[in-house]
Amino acid sequence: MTQRSAFWNAVATLVALGLIFFLIDPAGRAPDGARFLARQHPALVHLPIGFLLFAGLLALARRWRKDEHQGSTEQAALVLGGWGGVAAAAAGSWLMQMGGYQADVLFWHRLAGFVIPLAAAGILLVSTERFGSGLRSAAWSLLVAGLVIGGHKGGEMTHGKQFTAEYAPVLLQPVLGGAPTLETRFDLSRPDSISVYSALAKPILHARCTSCHGEGRTKGGLDLTTAEAIAGHETDTDDDPLITWGSSEASLLIQRIMLPMEHRRAMPPVPDAKPLSHADVELLRWWVDSESGFDGTIAAADMPGSIRSILQAYGMGEIKRGVFALSVAEPDTASVTALRATGLRLTRVSVDEPFLDLACDAASCLSAEGLDPLAPNIISLELSGTDVTDSDLAALSRFPNLTSVDLSRTAVTGSSLEALANLPFLTRINLYGTRVDDSALDVLAAFPALEGVYLWNTNVTDEGVARLRDALPGADINDGRS
Ligand code: HEC
Repeated sequence: MTQRSAFWNAVATLVALGLIFFLIDPAGRAPDGARFLARQHPALVHLPIGFLLFAGLLALARRWRKDEHQGSTEQAALVLGGWGGVAAAAAGSWLMQMGGYQADVLFWHRLAGFVIPLAAAGILLVSTERFGSGLRSAAWSLLVAGLVIGGHKGGEMTHGKQFTAEYAPVLLQPVLGGAPTLETRFDLSRPDSISVYSALAKPILHARCTSCHGEGRTKGGLDLTTAEAIAGHETDTDDDPLITWGSSEASLLIQRIMLPMEHRRAMPPVPDAKPLSHADVELLRWWVDSESGFDGTIAAADMPGSIRSILQAYGMGEIKRGVFALSVAEPDTASVTALRATGLRLTRVSVDEPFLDLACDAASCLSAEGLDPLAPNIISLELSGTDVTDSDLAALSRFPNLTSVDLSRTAVTGSSLEALANLPFLTRINLYGTRVDDSALDVLAAFPALEGVYLWNTNVTDEGVARLRDALPGADINDGRS
């Protein structure tokens, strides 16, 4: 090939790629006539790759023979490979307009798609006598880099990240990004501090929706990239709102992903994009139904068994709440044994938690010597039928992690229940068979964590119980009557 024709080949390649780059706008709509060609992109890319690899082999063989002169077969392979690459770039750009690809992966794949034909034309140009071997090596390196990156990213787009790395030798896995396991898809390590939105909904929306709804294009006027954009989206008046918290049926976002994939309005639109997996649909639905909004944490959301099993498959461990989320040291065995010897009934609440139940025969056990080191471990206190009185209740603040206190059948009147107000985990209190009345209930109304109050055979009235139920709507207020 002459210097002149190599030059004009390079210019023509540059012009063609320029036209493709500037005329096929990523955010535009693929022309109907181009859609067929667009879909041939995966087949179209392989032909130039073949030609270019063939040219590469010939060049290597030449190098081995110390032959500087490029043969006509090698040149033909580079011309065909280069122009095949131009055609693949055009088809790929239309395919990109049809959407559904992840933006960051697409960026590198597209860049490689433009670099490859340029490198092929460049090799032809610098292989003429005028240029030194340094330039030749650089042009070949560019071509090889383009092929490796383009192929790798292309595989990732069509088959997912796993595809190229799945069977890679262990040594190569770090280079290829490794084969991600199910566990790495979502970060579920801190269910009590990370929101359902940022842990689950956002990663799904970003992987499957924002290529069309955000990042430069907002199909249907919808941007799903940020909480603000989602919250601020206004749907048409004859449509339901994008999200109605607590009701996925009345949320356009969920309606669209639940349509059968043949439906014209199904999201993401098939065949431009892959349909969502069943698990992803269920997770998005749960996000909306659980009323988690953008801040509600995974641990705080009501979790049906089906969602729990999905999340466990993604690596979520058991969610610990309240006192069980604290890191409390194991109870000191020597202290426990010594106290038991004095007649104190201390038992573990479960084998794998460091917490203890203390059952007393008399109020004096609250001040038993040697109990201090175990105080954080004691979460349940049974004083039923003992001689405990109102004046002893102040001593209960010695046990900061109490969740349950049984004062049933004692002389307690409720006049000093305030003493328990600063126990943050107190969820159950048993006052059965005591002389507590409505004034005690008004005190209990201010206890933040209360879930159960037992009031059989006390002096409380129906009105007092109704007031407490209003104040603690989630709690079980049991007065033995209703
Ligand atoms: C391949 C591009 C593409 C992808 C990917 C995609 N959408 Fe869409 N989406 C569209 C187009 C085009 C429209 C406008 C036409 C229509 O309403 O059907 C639209 C409209 C919508 C609407 C209606 C907005 C309104 O106010 O009318 C919702 C809701 C929606 N998409 C949700 C999603 C969700 C959720 C995902 C991800 C699971 C998703 N879309 C993925 C292309 C896409």
